[in-house]
Amino acid sequence: MNSESRSSQKIKIVTCQDADEASERVARKVISLIRERNEASRPTVLGLATGSTPILLYKKLIQAHREEGLSFKNVITFNLDEYLGLDKSHPKSYWHFMHSQLFNHIDIDPENIHIPDGNVPEDSVSEYCKDYEACIETAGGLDIQIVGIGRTGHIGFNEPGSTVDSITRMVTLDPLTRKDAAHSFGGEAAVPTHAITMGVSTILKSRSIYLLAWGAAKAEIVAKTLKVDPTDMLPASFLQQHEATTFFVDHAAASALN
Ligand code: PGA
Repeated sequence: MNSESRSSQKIKIVTCQDADEASERVARKVISLIRERNEASRPTVLGLATGSTPILLYKKLIQAHREEGLSFKNVITFNLDEYLGLDKSHPKSYWHFMHSQLFNHIDIDPENIHIPDGNVPEDSVSEYCKDYEACIETAGGLDIQIVGIGRTGHIGFNEPGSTVDSITRMVTLDPLTRKDAAHSFGGEAAVPTHAITMGVSTILKSRSIYLLAWGAAKAEIVAKTLKVDPTDMLPASFLQQHEATTFFVDHAAASALN
């Protein structure tokens, strides 16, 4: 059973039986926009996320490509973030993640894939980030942004302290975020300390935003995000100010909602 409701703000909340059902619903929205745009010979611009949360969604997009003939030739993507100091070839880079989980299995034009470069020299990071913003604008802006949520309340790597007007930039990762990533890096010491991330304002410019959250570990932060007044102490709370944001959650992640 799933239910739909609206929080006291504009955010729509869709509670699904499990991550599979929620990912299917999000996949169908993405697929129908791509089809509509393909028919009109117009590009679809997607903002994509990494982490364990969107993996099922990507599997479903691959399946639609293989079994339903969905073409990604006209799709342009921008990823939210990347660890600084990791080369593309590093198995834990988000570049590697996106290629192995999605891009290697669909017909997207490699030139249409944008992922922040984790190897950009420190003295050119700020110029690089401005270019990333400009590139999103030139593509026509993001149609759909997929985001997960970290236990710090981050979206992308916008950790507590990220302001509503923040743009793509270099950031320091929160200790909790590094702790949560430790298992996949084989220890906290190996987790990078910095990253490049789209800003809160970059995300808020997207025409639609889908936040995905599964499991009991996300219940508290999801509830808090919807309850607090928008604050840079919990950057995901700024989504309350967006006109077209939907949270897709499973029952466990919704368990602390009233
Ligand atoms: P997760 O990360 O998908 O691995 O839970 C989400 C996030 O930190 O944004």
